[in-house]
Amino acid sequence: MALAARIVVLPGDGIGPEVTEAARRVLDAAAGRVGLGLDYVSDLVGGAAVDAYGVALRPQTLRLCKTADAILFGAVGGPKWDDAAPNSTVRPGSALLGLRKGLGLFANLRPVRVDPSMVAVSALRPERIQDVDLLVVRELTGGLYFSRPKRRYVTPRGEAAVDTMRYSAPEIERVAVRAFELARMRRGRVCSVDKANVLETSRLWRAVVSGVALRYPDVTCTHMLVDAFAMELLRRPQAFDIVVTENLFGDILTDEASMLAGALGMLPSASLGAGTLGLYEPIHGSAPDIAGKGIANPIGAILSAALLLRWSLNQEDAAQAIERAVSRVLAAGLRTADIATDGQAPAGTAAMADAIVDALR
Ligand code: IPM
Ligand code: MG
Repeated sequence: MALAARIVVLPGDGIGPEVTEAARRVLDAAAGRVGLGLDYVSDLVGGAAVDAYGVALRPQTLRLCKTADAILFGAVGGPKWDDAAPNSTVRPGSALLGLRKGLGLFANLRPVRVDPSMVAVSALRPERIQDVDLLVVRELTGGLYFSRPKRRYVTPRGEAAVDTMRYSAPEIERVAVRAFELARMRRGRVCSVDKANVLETSRLWRAVVSGVALRYPDVTCTHMLVDAFAMELLRRPQAFDIVVTENLFGDILTDEASMLAGALGMLPSASLGAGTLGLYEPIHGSAPDIAGKGIANPIGAILSAALLLRWSLNQEDAAQAIERAVSRVLAAGLRTADIATDGQAPAGTAAMADAIVDALR
């Protein structure tokens, strides 16, 4: 067997450990099919790390991730840690932001595909969502999430707070290039989403993206304002191929887009930088309300494992095998509680993972 790939597993909090375990089992089965060895190392992040070590992300965890081929991430956060000071290292979310920034993962790929057997599950009419296949490329290490100043302070007239939206041309250019490269591998269309009628950062964003577009004459580039896009995403989602946008817009729009696919629990993501190292996580959060019950939908995490095989390990066949297995299990009618329709007995997290592993064989 070839040299084993090194995977760092960071289950995190809430349903994170449950869905990550499901994804790891499916990943193992898919890797086994193609004779690929995987070495796993696990570590605590988020609230779990706060409890054990007093910080959400330890420096050695970041170092460990830097030596890995890929990172499989669950979710972080929960009510237990909600009172932690904003922007402090004891906030679970700071682990995720620290990893994204610390590993230089500036491009977050969030594919939104509507599986044919999920059309009936969606809140939207079938003709609106059939054949939806778009890919949101979300900028991940800039904008309001990271720019300074970012603080809360006291004024003579009470409290105030500030967040800063800052983007440099190189930050915009590298994510735009990634979007156009991806468009070439797909249907050759990029829609860049901004708020150029109001924001200075968006005007720069639009100018830089337009400049990159000139280098890709084979790719069609359009621009749309974020409010209009939020509406068009529900009105005619089939019209979009690649959607590239800044950090916060991408965060919001992909939760919205998950409703096309049927549920938040369905969507995977890949966070990539300049090389092949990537962090793979479902777009959903830690869902404390259902944590530990074994009922969470593991499909977002499992499809993230497929993205890991595709983007970090260059195993396209194994990635597609997982995607086909998920599709087959959904076609057979298996549903977790979040995607079950009237009267249907829902399957648990483990049962869903078992079925997908079986479908792989
Ligand atoms: C996401 C999440 C994170 C984000 C949170 C947990 C910090 O919502 O990955 O979409 O806002 O990026
Ligand atoms: Mg989000």
